[in-house]
Amino acid sequence: MPHRAPGSPGHNKPGHYLTGKAITYYRPRGSADVRQLIDGGFQAFNAGRLSEACHIFADKMLSPENDTTIGLTVAGALTPAGLGGCAIELMERGLVDFIISTGANLYHDLHYALNFTLHRGSPFLDDVELYEQGIIRIYDVLFPATVLLETDSYIRDFLVRSNLAGPIATSELHYRLGLDLLERQPGSDQYSVLASAAKSGVPVYTSSPGDSSIGMNIAYHELMNGSTLMIDPNRDVNEICAIILAGKKNGCVILGGGSPKNFYLQGQPTLWEVYGIPKGGNDFFIQITTDQVVWGGLSGATPAEAVSWGKVNPGVLPDTVVAYCDSTIAFPLFCEYAVGSANSRRTRKELIHKRDHLVADLLRQARDAKNTASQVTEEPAEIDRHR
Ligand SMILES: NC(=O)c1ccc[n+]([C@@H]2O[C@H](COP(=O)([O-])OP(=O)(O)OC[C@H]3O[C@@H](n4cnc5c(N)ncnc54)[C@H](O)[C@@H]3O)[C@@H](O)[C@H]2O)c1
Repeated sequence: MPHRAPGSPGHNKPGHYLTGKAITYYRPRGSADVRQLIDGGFQAFNAGRLSEACHIFADKMLSPENDTTIGLTVAGALTPAGLGGCAIELMERGLVDFIISTGANLYHDLHYALNFTLHRGSPFLDDVELYEQGIIRIYDVLFPATVLLETDSYIRDFLVRSNLAGPIATSELHYRLGLDLLERQPGSDQYSVLASAAKSGVPVYTSSPGDSSIGMNIAYHELMNGSTLMIDPNRDVNEICAIILAGKKNGCVILGGGSPKNFYLQGQPTLWEVYGIPKGGNDFFIQITTDQVVWGGLSGATPAEAVSWGKVNPGVLPDTVVAYCDSTIAFPLFCEYAVGSANSRRTRKELIHKRDHLVADLLRQARDAKNTASQVTEEPAEIDRHR
C-alpha cells in the first residue's frame, strides 16, 4: 500500500463512514426514573455494587458534615464516548474538587471544545479502508484524521501565544488551556471539560503527561521553537498531596483505573511514607472498572489491598466499593443518581486558586514532621551521654 500522511484524502468516496449521529456530551439531569431503577432494581451482583456506589457518593461523600474533598480519576476513552458532560455537571455543582485524567481524555476533549464532530459508528469496520479514507477509529467512534491535525495545530498555537515557560504543573497547563478556550470559544464551558474546569476552579492533572497528543505537541514546542516549557511531575505530586492533606475527609471516584488511579491513591503514602505526616488514609473509595484483581495489576487492585499501603483507612472498608461495569454505562447512571439526590450541590472549593497556599502548608507540616523525627532519633544519644 502506498504511504500517505494520515488525514490526506483516500481513493474511496469520503464521508461514507461519517454519516452516524454526532456524539455530544450528555448532561445528567437527576432523573427520578433512574434513581428508582438504581434503588429498586439494582439489587445484587454488579448492579448491587453500583447501587452501593451511588449511596456512598450521594449520601456520605456529598454529605455536608463530611465536607469530603473528592478526586475523580479518568482512564479509558471516556471523552470520545461523550462522557465529558458527566464530569462537567459534577464540576459545576461542586461535586468533584479535582480531576486526574489520562492525557488522551483531555486531548479528545479539545475536539469538542473546538467544535469538531466525532460520529457514532461501529466497531466492525474495515480499518484499512478507514485508513485510506483518512478516518480515525476509537472502537466505534469515528472522526476524520484532520480533526487530529487541527486540534494539534490549536495546541501548538496556544503554546506559542500563552508564553508558558519553564517547569509547570499539569494543573497550570490545563487551567491555562481552559482559559484560552473560554476566551476563544465563548460558551465552551458547556461542552468542554477543560473549559468547564477552568471556569469552576477545578484543577485537572494528568499522571502521564508525555503519553498523549498534548504531550507530543509540548515536545514539538521544545524541539522546534526552543521553548523551555516543561511539565514538572514533582509539582503535580506535591499539589495532589497538599490537596489531600487539607481535606477534612478524602474520597475518590475512580473510572477504569490506569495511572490516574495510582496518581490519586499515592497521595496518602506520599504523606505518611515520604513526608512523615500521618493522615490516616482515604475515607471513601469508589471504582468502576472492567479490570480484575486476579492479574495482580494496580488497576484491578481492591480497596482492601490499598489498606495495606496506607492508601485507604482500615476502618472505612464499608465505605469502599468496586463495581465491575463498563464506565460508559455505569458512570452516567451514577451521575444521574447524584444529581437527583438531596446533596446535589456543594459550594465549589475552587482549589485551582488555592494550590500555592496548600503546598506551603504541606511544606510547613513536612518540616515540622522532620524536626520532630530528628529530635526523636537524637534522644537515645542524649541518654547515652548521661550514662
Ligand atoms: N492521542 C492520544 O493522546 C492518546 C490516545 C489514546 C491513548 N493515549 C494514552 O494512552 C494511555 C492509556 O490510556 P487508556 O485510556 O487506554 O487507559 P489505560 O489503559 O491506562 O487504563 C484504562 C484502564 O481502565 C479500564 N477501562 C478502560 N475502559 C473502560 C471502560 N469503558 N469501563 C471500565 N473500565 C475501563 C481498563 O481495563 C484499563 O485497564 C494514556 O496515557 C493515554 O493518555 C493517548
